[in-house]
Amino acid sequence: MPVIAVVGGQWGDEGKGKVVDFLAERVNMVVRFSGGDNAGHTVINPFGKFKLHLIPSGIFYPDVTCIIANGVVVNPVVLTKEIDDLNKRGIDTSRLFISDRANLVMPYHILLDGLEEEARGGGALGTTRRGIGPAFTDKVARLGIRAGELLNRETLKQRLGFVLDYKNRILTRVYGVEPVGLDELYQQCCRWGEGLTGHLRDTSAMLDEAVSNGDTILLEGAQGALLDPDFGTYPYTSSSSSLAGNGCIGAGIGPAKIDKVVGIFKAYNTRVGAGPMPTELKDKTGDLIRERAQEFGTTTGRPRRCGWFDAVAARYSQVVNGLTGAVITRLDILDAFDKIKICVGYKLDGKTINYFPADAAALYRCQPIYEEVAGWQTPTSHITGYDELPSRLKDYVSRLEGLIDCPVHLACVGPERSQAVIKTPIF
Ligand code: IMP
Repeated sequence: MPVIAVVGGQWGDEGKGKVVDFLAERVNMVVRFSGGDNAGHTVINPFGKFKLHLIPSGIFYPDVTCIIANGVVVNPVVLTKEIDDLNKRGIDTSRLFISDRANLVMPYHILLDGLEEEARGGGALGTTRRGIGPAFTDKVARLGIRAGELLNRETLKQRLGFVLDYKNRILTRVYGVEPVGLDELYQQCCRWGEGLTGHLRDTSAMLDEAVSNGDTILLEGAQGALLDPDFGTYPYTSSSSSLAGNGCIGAGIGPAKIDKVVGIFKAYNTRVGAGPMPTELKDKTGDLIRERAQEFGTTTGRPRRCGWFDAVAARYSQVVNGLTGAVITRLDILDAFDKIKICVGYKLDGKTINYFPADAAALYRCQPIYEEVAGWQTPTSHITGYDELPSRLKDYVSRLEGLIDCPVHLACVGPERSQAVIKTPIF
């Protein structure tokens, strides 16, 4: 049975949560492997409408084991709240496991995220201010506190004291703000440890056992390829790798064990936060997409920047992820348009290019070269069979399939689980 990585193909918010929710019916395990609570997805299913930041959407299926793996940075406050909220609404969370190797997002990370953004002034990245960048920085600086450490109170106090001593010097001397108190934070950590103890595990070992048993496993990424710190629009990126390759390290599984890599793309493009976005529409068309799709961040509520589908970026995303298939979401948003544009190249400094430049400054100068196709101008949200979709919509999907250069599995026409129309089965 396959191990399938599900990753964002654009700048995040492509609808990974919805796709995982749809696929999870057929799987045994869902493993979230990157990012933190900067991610957020809204899932609408027979149990209601849920906003999740950390817990994989597989949690709604009683037989699916859900893992938050070592590659995720975990804010215990957010996680505890999500667990409590789900439990209150009758969703069982006893099958949720968190890697004891996952680094924690601490209150001082959130503080520093805000202070660093303020210090950047006009060069601010527009982070979600959830402390994600500072937490990943501490992970590689070996100053992180890992989830498993919450269970060993003696060493926890020692490590916390060492780390806080360093952090407090930065907070007070660089930023001139109040230090974080050790005792209070230590007590808080002990409470988090008590609350999470039943969920903490060596999740890589669980994954290994599931692979040996022949289970079907989804590796769920966060954000999207264009926010990847290596391949995204650096420095306007997030701080953990959003690519399928990080599914191995972030979940603790060997590369040869991943059978399929499915990239999720919206039928148009959105971006939240600063940084280049060649197809951004700062006009009525962009506003119309935003209004129709309610493109406002799940985590921050910020309006998302909207634009036409960027096939140069999408093809690049296919290459750096090694996509074996794609899903196109939110096609119903385009129901209203008589003409739809697809960016098939860029004009950069007078030259036509068909690659995604590494340099953010160059990307800012890229002018999209568009191909225009006729819209289908008919409602599609009720359609459940691929053959019943309007022929122009199918032409659009086929064109994207050719440009991205991998088969499209699903064409999504609404936010609900049932509104995913199968073109080519994934399983
Ligand atoms: P950070 O991940 O909070 O440090 O933010 C860095 C950049 O990534 C900002 O532009 C954020 O808006 C963006 N970002 C982070 N997480 C997401 C996400 O889940 N969806 C879309 N953008 C995100």
